[in-house]
Amino acid sequence: MSEPKKLYIKTYGCQMNVYDSERMSEALGGQGYVETQSPEDADMILLNTCHIREKAAEKVYSELGRFKGLKAEKPDLKIGVAGCVAQAEGEEIMRRQPLVDLVVGPQSYHRLPELEAKTRAGEKALDTDFPEEDKFEKLKNRPKAKRGPTAFLTVQEGCDKFCAFCVVPYTRGAEVSRPADRILREAQDLVERGVREITLLGQNVNAYHGAGPDGDMTLAGLIWELNKIDGLERIRFTTSHPNDMTDDLIEAHGTCEKLMPYLHLPVQSGSDKILKRMNRSHTAESYLRLIERIREARPDILMSGDFIVGFPEETEEDFQATLDLVEQVRYGYAYSFKYSTRPGTPAAERPQVDPQEADDRLQRLQALITRHQREIQDAMVGRTVRVLFEKPGRLAGQMVGKSEYLHAVHVSGADLSAGDLRNVRIKASGANSLAGEVL
Ligand code: 5AD
Ligand code: SF4
Repeated sequence: MSEPKKLYIKTYGCQMNVYDSERMSEALGGQGYVETQSPEDADMILLNTCHIREKAAEKVYSELGRFKGLKAEKPDLKIGVAGCVAQAEGEEIMRRQPLVDLVVGPQSYHRLPELEAKTRAGEKALDTDFPEEDKFEKLKNRPKAKRGPTAFLTVQEGCDKFCAFCVVPYTRGAEVSRPADRILREAQDLVERGVREITLLGQNVNAYHGAGPDGDMTLAGLIWELNKIDGLERIRFTTSHPNDMTDDLIEAHGTCEKLMPYLHLPVQSGSDKILKRMNRSHTAESYLRLIERIREARPDILMSGDFIVGFPEETEEDFQATLDLVEQVRYGYAYSFKYSTRPGTPAAERPQVDPQEADDRLQRLQALITRHQREIQDAMVGRTVRVLFEKPGRLAGQMVGKSEYLHAVHVSGADLSAGDLRNVRIKASGANSLAGEVL
């Protein structure tokens, strides 16, 4: 038997890329590849890239430059760029960096085996189509090997919302939902491989409307179906848009026992003027009312969000409105970014906020978010949470897992394995995690 070829994949960006990288690795598994953690050993290097914010493409080019030496030593080494930078830059990547052999967009990576064969024949391979066929259908069945207790499962891709700052509708394409039966089969397979928690993924996951047995199914409908799978203990989903938070989904947060009390619901800004210019089609008030309803359904739900500061024409007053909204919501987690111009998006042409002013706002927002995050985490001390243990911690005899609220929890000196689900009394709150003891 010939030695397996080695594949090194580096993943940038969101969880959807993490899922895509797994599927790409599996697709190349059929070509005799096994994954390696070191680029020096690899026969193929694949960068699965992200284009959401500035410098992403530049980072990719500088990373590619670093492989020059490797390629000189090993002329058979193939180098590929996948993901959203591949989609946005296309052929330009090969022009700028001739050592690249393969460029594949996020909607065409099921064609990786053919593209790889083309590179082995000494040709360059490029595919950034949005093909008619469903890539998930074309990808071979997932392997049966055991795996860790948590997994991502992409159920929806793309976006039709066209927020004025965002490249996703251009790099990932139009909003598409996978059929429910395929998702349920994939979930069942994951559970048979040891998975106990599934996070459903989509750029607009709560807009899910995949074909079901009786017409289109909503995300809540899909979650209720997943809820029936024996051995699956936890369901999460991300990322949601406020406008797609339907009544049945809110209700599921109150009644579906496997759906975890955590919701990532980006608002981006607290100023109605800015929300309008962002083309968000909701107001700060309608967002706050929505959260009120969600909290009525599930009072202990932990909210998470995304913010952009320094969006074109954001004034100090607009920014204050964002701080006010954050004060009202009190996020358990929130991610805030300085606006970065994405060529081709509507906001790119507008008058930009002074970068130093934007930096200053970012710092102030992050300080407030961190304070809330900390207070919410500290308030867990003394409470009992349910932890799904995932892996050993850094200290001997320690295991780490996640609570239902997605806080990392460390436990020492207990007889625990990955995949165990236990009640844990929280004793202490550290910088980024909690510590407790199994009851
Ligand atoms: N600049 C800054 N942040 C952005 N995001 C998306 N596009 C941009 C941009 N051009 C942020 C949004 C989104 C998160 C994934 O990334 O907050 O919710
Ligand atoms: Fe981008 Fe807006 Fe779509 Fe989210 S909803 S992916 S921010 S365009």
